[in-house]
Amino acid sequence: MAEADLVFEVRKSDWRETRFVERPLPDLEPGQVLFRVDRFAVTANNISYALTGDALGYWRFFPCAEGFGRIPVMGFADVVRSTHADVHEGTRCFGFYPMARHLVITPGLVSASQIVDAAPHRAGLAPAYAQYLPASGDASYAVAREDQLMLMRGLFMTSFLADDFLADQDYRGARAVLISSASSKTSIALAYQVRQGGKTRAIGLTSARNEAFVRGLGFYDQVVLYEEISSLAVEPAVFVDMAGNSAVTGAVHRHFGDQLAYDCSIGATHWSAERLREELPGPKSEFFFAPAQIVKRTRDWGGSGLTGRMALAWTGFCEASDAWLKVVRGHGREALAQVFQKTLAGRTEPADGHVLSLFEGRSGE
Ligand SMILES: NC(=O)c1ccc[n+]([C@@H]2O[C@H](COP(=O)([O-])OP(=O)(O)OC[C@H]3O[C@@H](n4cnc5c(N)ncnc54)[C@H](OP(=O)(O)O)[C@@H]3O)[C@@H](O)[C@H]2O)c1
Repeated sequence: MAEADLVFEVRKSDWRETRFVERPLPDLEPGQVLFRVDRFAVTANNISYALTGDALGYWRFFPCAEGFGRIPVMGFADVVRSTHADVHEGTRCFGFYPMARHLVITPGLVSASQIVDAAPHRAGLAPAYAQYLPASGDASYAVAREDQLMLMRGLFMTSFLADDFLADQDYRGARAVLISSASSKTSIALAYQVRQGGKTRAIGLTSARNEAFVRGLGFYDQVVLYEEISSLAVEPAVFVDMAGNSAVTGAVHRHFGDQLAYDCSIGATHWSAERLREELPGPKSEFFFAPAQIVKRTRDWGGSGLTGRMALAWTGFCEASDAWLKVVRGHGREALAQVFQKTLAGRTEPADGHVLSLFEGRSGE
């Protein structure tokens, strides 16, 4: 195979500076697998991986030259070469890939439902961060749903677990869940789950730019602009923060005061907003750690009980999202560079789900 590899990298100190690196495909050592990355999704969540790359280990997924980093993305890839006895050519897997044409992994655990990369640079990461799911052993897989899986599966899982975590505590008596960056896919998934539960209301907080989209979704009981938070009725509420914008957080805390039962931090879409350090009324913000809820529910429901519930909820969310999600395909360097810069700057359309491939032409269609 004369195909060369191509990989997209960002400067760690300034992600606006990006580059493409070309290199020959490596020869496999015994027990390795070469993936051809068919296509992958890029959303604001991937920008958060750069933001927390050192703290949470994202830069360790796919190491590269000093000063640069390869941001992980969720995608589908096919095994095109294998020197591992249990992993066969043609196996199609969902998982974390670099924005690249290829990836070499060194499988440790291999079963019908997972192939785990045991490469030393990934040691110590959360198990889900090194897992590749063969389509043939994946209860949530459907060929017609590949784009949604890449774009929203991980985000939906987080929101499913966050809603479950709050519902398990009766939403701490809240009559409303306030959700920032209401136009983000993770927030939309959370609003969907809150509404499915029917125990409390979902209130979306968003920017003027995305207001019409959020209203049009019909997933939120109420939608307000960031500048109009003080117009909300003061009632027992919990705040789930996807924006990480201290001006928005401050407005919520000052307005709801001790009626705010809980502040749950999940995202930081407004990553470039000024960080204000001020004492706020109400509860201290707590980071939502999804793996802890997975451990709890695996204990309560068993592993298959949890995956079964999640797969069922995911199917419902996928179907409900057909009405708003517009998959936008892009191919090649220029398309990726453009989508990356737009995502970084928050200039993508909220309905758009960008799915990219570094192969020119119509790969994956
Ligand atoms: N902790 C976890 O386990 C976990 C898991 C999944 C997702 N998350 C987080 O959830 C957040 C949402 O991710 P997503 O992939 O769902 O996002 P997305 O769909 O790409 O969301 C795009 C929205 O985010 C806001 N935004 C994005 N970039 C911005 C910028 N530069 N400046 C201002 N606003 C910007 C805008 O919403 P508004 O105008 O409505 O503010 C925009 O419509 C991310 O921060 C992600 O890390 C966390």
